[in-house]
Amino acid sequence: MLDSCGRRIDYLRLSVTDLCNYRCRYCMPEEGVFKRPHGDILSIEVLEEIARAAVGLGITKIRLTGGEPLVRRGIVELCRRLRAIPELKELCLTTNGSLLPELARPLRDAGVDRLNISLDTLRPDRFAAITRRGALDDVLSGIRAAEAAGFDHLKFDTVLIGGFNDDEIADFVGLTENHPWEVRFIELMPMGPCACWDKSCFLPGTTVLDRCPDLQPIPAEGVARRYKHQSYKGTVGLISPVSHDFCADCRRIRVTADGKLKGCLHSREEIALRGLHGWELENAIRRGILQKPQRHHLAERSSDTPRNMNQIGG
Ligand code: 5AD
Ligand code: SF4
Repeated sequence: MLDSCGRRIDYLRLSVTDLCNYRCRYCMPEEGVFKRPHGDILSIEVLEEIARAAVGLGITKIRLTGGEPLVRRGIVELCRRLRAIPELKELCLTTNGSLLPELARPLRDAGVDRLNISLDTLRPDRFAAITRRGALDDVLSGIRAAEAAGFDHLKFDTVLIGGFNDDEIADFVGLTENHPWEVRFIELMPMGPCACWDKSCFLPGTTVLDRCPDLQPIPAEGVARRYKHQSYKGTVGLISPVSHDFCADCRRIRVTADGKLKGCLHSREEIALRGLHGWELENAIRRGILQKPQRHHLAERSSDTPRNMNQIGG
């Protein structure tokens, strides 16, 4: 379905929980999130119902997000149910990777097509510092488990943070030498806990090109500009929501774990889907697509959403 700016909306990011076993400093406060009453979070049945309605309106790709989607009870069953929707072309999931040692195989068997793994640093001490409670080794085991389960074109999402991991850019690009992986550098977006961080933390995606002049441009994919080192197997992506403003190419809508449809990550506008069924549900999603904002204003000011990232799903 087309939105009011003529963008074809075919990609739904569906958040299945706002909880996470990590507390990344830019994303969540130390104390975590207020644990919502159980009934606030959509059930597996309702998540499936929303997905089916969205697919009926032209969504062909669904990405499950969080918080951390793999802490959600019933996640594998949800994947199985979504994979059974005939018109759904692609089922993807974004994870911090820590639970993949146990879950990579069941997710693959349930029909998940692709995994994105968040990985902000390759150094164990920094990893512990940024996630406040994670261990790099868990994620590295998770990556091996994902490969063994048949996820061969893994994507890694690295949030670029000036003074924290910009000295690791070349190491990350090096990951693409021997694997058909895509390492994607994401500009840090001023929202939630990091909105008040020093300006020097916010680097433009092009920093990657300055540090790695051997990268050659290749065709873009979605909102990612892409590059490749001639002799490497994998690719490098730049996702630059702040400096590049890719809103004109945005094809996505989002549903939060508490059942609010958002046309844009950064806008305050939300449409409550909870309690709606059949044509009412479909109409609400249609309205959300039509009202998708034309653009965000991150270049001028912080995100307009009062939510933290874990409450939306990246
Ligand atoms: N800016 C950019 N990316 C963010 N994420 C969380 N908060 C931010 C932010 N402020 C990313 C995570 C993960 C995905 C869920 O969203 O690192 O890759
Ligand atoms: Fe969890 Fe991802 Fe937020 Fe880190 S960025 S705390 S892994 S939801």
